Amino acid sequence: MTQNDKFQGAYSDNDIDEAAEASSAFLPVSPFEIVVFGGTGDLARRKLLPALYHRFCDKQFAKNVRIIAVSRSDITREAYLQLIQESYQNFEQDEQFSKSQWDDFCKLVDYVSIDVLDAKADWDALKSKLDASEQLTRVFYLAMPPRLFSDICTGLGKAGLAHKGSRVVLEKPIGTDYDSAFEINEGVGRVFHENRIYRIDHYLGKESVQNLMVLRFGNILLEPLWSSSAIEHIELTVAESIGVGGRGSYYDGAGALRDMVQNHLLQLLCLSTMEAPASINADDLRTEKIKVLRALAPITAENVKAVTVRGQYVKGVVEGAAKDDYLTDVGVDQSQTETYVAIKAEINNWRWKGVPIYMRTGKRMSSRRSELIIQFKPVPHSIFGQDTLINPNRLVIRLQPDEAVKLFLEIKEPGAGGLRLKTLPLNLSYADNFTVRYPDAYERLLMDVVRGNLSLFMRRDEVEAAWRWCDSILEAWAETQQAVAYYPAGADGPDAAKDMLASDNDAWSDSE
Ligand code: BG6
Repeated sequence: MTQNDKFQGAYSDNDIDEAAEASSAFLPVSPFEIVVFGGTGDLARRKLLPALYHRFCDKQFAKNVRIIAVSRSDITREAYLQLIQESYQNFEQDEQFSKSQWDDFCKLVDYVSIDVLDAKADWDALKSKLDASEQLTRVFYLAMPPRLFSDICTGLGKAGLAHKGSRVVLEKPIGTDYDSAFEINEGVGRVFHENRIYRIDHYLGKESVQNLMVLRFGNILLEPLWSSSAIEHIELTVAESIGVGGRGSYYDGAGALRDMVQNHLLQLLCLSTMEAPASINADDLRTEKIKVLRALAPITAENVKAVTVRGQYVKGVVEGAAKDDYLTDVGVDQSQTETYVAIKAEINNWRWKGVPIYMRTGKRMSSRRSELIIQFKPVPHSIFGQDTLINPNRLVIRLQPDEAVKLFLEIKEPGAGGLRLKTLPLNLSYADNFTVRYPDAYERLLMDVVRGNLSLFMRRDEVEAAWRWCDSILEAWAETQQAVAYYPAGADGPDAAKDMLASDNDAWSDSE
């Protein structure tokens, strides 16, 4: 058994079809049926069906796979297939698109119209499409607004569809605050046991995010330095160049803190700062993550203005194209919703006490980039004399796009003329080393649901702890009436975010 086999073994679970071809690059999954609620919605069309199609093309499915899309629209199966093919071709830019493979994939897809809000919803219409056996893995994917999660689960329970081999996938956001998340978790939990609930944060399915764990725990080099003894500060940036698109009504009620920080950024923070779990099994991993969430220093009305910045974009130019302001994008006259947030967080534990963690995320920033930067401390004493500048080391983990790991080191600049130091990176670029297609995060996560592997999904206590921390920020903003600071589209946030770091003698790093 190679190291790689062992790694895959740890990730996979018992459900894997033993008879599957051992030689496949993809671990085949056992037969399953997946019911996608919100089947005509954006997520299903843009992400879920394309993800299933790719895994089908990669021959990861055993026989007997069925995909049943559910929505309110009273359309035929043929009309639905037409809809998803158009969406695939619009969104995927797939030069290799094969009509014959697509047609084969479509044979697995069925459609049923149910209004889940209707008390007399015809669950039998769905039941008749499902396999009568309880042996077949059954997945319910709720690509629907979270306020409907409990009711749908109750409906499934009453109709006898949530058998013991079934599992439910909940899309983020789980609620809008701690209380609503608690209610949803209670409602869903009345029908599905916690180990059958898969709360998606698609960032956990990204290749580069999983690589964070491999980098930290697959190498001995970093760990001895991974604490306040050698690290000055940590920067986490998730910048987007897109605006709010067609999601204005959702976004205006949510804002960047709820939309991005409560889930994606806090998950990245956990993976970057947690202790080494005993294994990557779901409970080991999630238990370490929750410890970080619980150790986050609360942000209150006393310090919120010093450690957070809220921003909103106004007109500007992004990547050469003129863009409207947020209010125009959303179609409202007034709004104090933040499209940008920067936070100076602290983790109150032995490893991280005193290390500022600067997080920021925003829409309509200069470019799309997600990056984790570990800024090391300077050397304790320079042997090169006072006039020689020694830049402290820095580790840049580029999560997207152009995935890379760069370690900036000091070296001697060659040549005569005295001893001069130069900062250069050891550059481990994914593109230079791998030519494989990177599967979309949903591909990995959907297959993990079928396998019964919960490692890359959020446990109930994680979601609730993340909300508790975010709620205190939201309350502090409301209490202090902290207004948004404006930034032009195409800028990397408002000046106030620079000032926040400057007051600590720090600065956000430019993209490297
Ligand atoms: C979603 C947010 O969860 O993540 C969106 O709701 C955001 O607002 C998106 O645009 C970003 O995901 P990615 O994979 O494009 O970085």
